[in-house]
Amino acid sequence: MATSPEVNGAQLFKYKIVLLGETAVGKSSIVQRYVRDQFLEHQESTIGAAFMSQTIKIDSDIVKFDIWDTAGQERYHSLTPMYYRGAKAAVVIYDITNRVSFARAKNWITELKQNSGNPDLVIALAGNKCDLSMNREVPKELAEEYAKETGILFMEVSAKTKENIDLIFETIARRLPRIRAPVVPVNITPIEAPKPTSEKKCCK
Ligand code: GTP
Ligand code: MG
Repeated sequence: MATSPEVNGAQLFKYKIVLLGETAVGKSSIVQRYVRDQFLEHQESTIGAAFMSQTIKIDSDIVKFDIWDTAGQERYHSLTPMYYRGAKAAVVIYDITNRVSFARAKNWITELKQNSGNPDLVIALAGNKCDLSMNREVPKELAEEYAKETGILFMEVSAKTKENIDLIFETIARRLPRIRAPVVPVNITPIEAPKPTSEKKCCK
């Protein structure tokens, strides 16, 4: 997290956040919905990674997320440590209609816990495409139970309908520590007026 300069009296806190998950689970769609309030039925698969930022107000603080949306295709896997290192939070996404994507999400969480280098990393598991619950393959209770065991946040979301999209980022923001710059006491020493000396007297 960067230092916390003041913006109109409120303190600004910046955090790097990374999105991980198998290809086509909806990582880019979630970011697009969150940052631009847009949804594309034919969102293109990400190449490498994409970056976007979003600023929100949490109580009297301003929180800025620098969001790295990684590419889920297997050939980009070796690049991902570059994006999760130094991150303060990670959103691991699966598609509720695809049980393989849930298994993959669990692997990501294990990898993050082992390799992120940040024991305080805030991890959220997001079951996307909850608008397609008629095609559900991953029971909500199963994901809930797993999240409870591993001590991470969990929510089902939909980039398409916007369900829980703002809420998941807001919940993460509230979990992140705000390290405030210490208030430095300012000692105001009164400046003594120079004592008049006889030399300075010009009018005798
Ligand atoms: P990679 O960039 O390849 O890793 O994929 P991704 O995880 O970024 O997935 P992307 O956002 O490209 O979405 C894949 C497809 O799922 C797109 O056709 C989206 O329109 C669709 N999609 C994403 N989110 C939702 C959702 O909440 N509901 C439904 N019904 N479709 C969704
Ligand atoms: Mg993408």
